[in-house]
Amino acid sequence: MKNTPSRLPEKARKQISEALCAVLTDGLDLYTQPKVAHWNIKGAHFAALHPLFDQFATDQAANNDEVAERVRTLGFLAVGTARHVAKKSRLPDYPQNVTADLDHVALLAERIGRHLDGLRGAREVAKKHDDEDTFDLLTGMVEQFEKHAWFLHATLGN
Ligand SMILES: [Fe+2]
Repeated sequence: MKNTPSRLPEKARKQISEALCAVLTDGLDLYTQPKVAHWNIKGAHFAALHPLFDQFATDQAANNDEVAERVRTLGFLAVGTARHVAKKSRLPDYPQNVTADLDHVALLAERIGRHLDGLRGAREVAKKHDDEDTFDLLTGMVEQFEKHAWFLHATLGN
């Protein structure tokens, strides 16, 4: 029995899955970071940013699930333990001693920017192998997190 419904050759599926697992690793990191910001934030912008950061985490959790399940659909295995993420994430760690609202905005803007680079890179791998479905999946995530980045940059006035 085939372990995938995909018609892509195995080499393509493997390369796309590896790119997706890297995105998943960063994405799991980017799930916890806005939660830390959501919990520790204080300052004049608290009322707007506290729920916004939680929304980032909620959206990221859903994206992580989609990416992991795309890897499985392509016939490979997902990654995602905290230890794997700690070792392999391409995002900088999140400081847990920050409280100032605008500091959190800048920290999250930088990390979302890094994650967007990873999403775009994985999307290029999908494009190279004519995997329109992975390409479209990642495009939806790029669009969503570019919008989140815009909120952050607008808050910072840049
Ligand atoms: Fe909460």
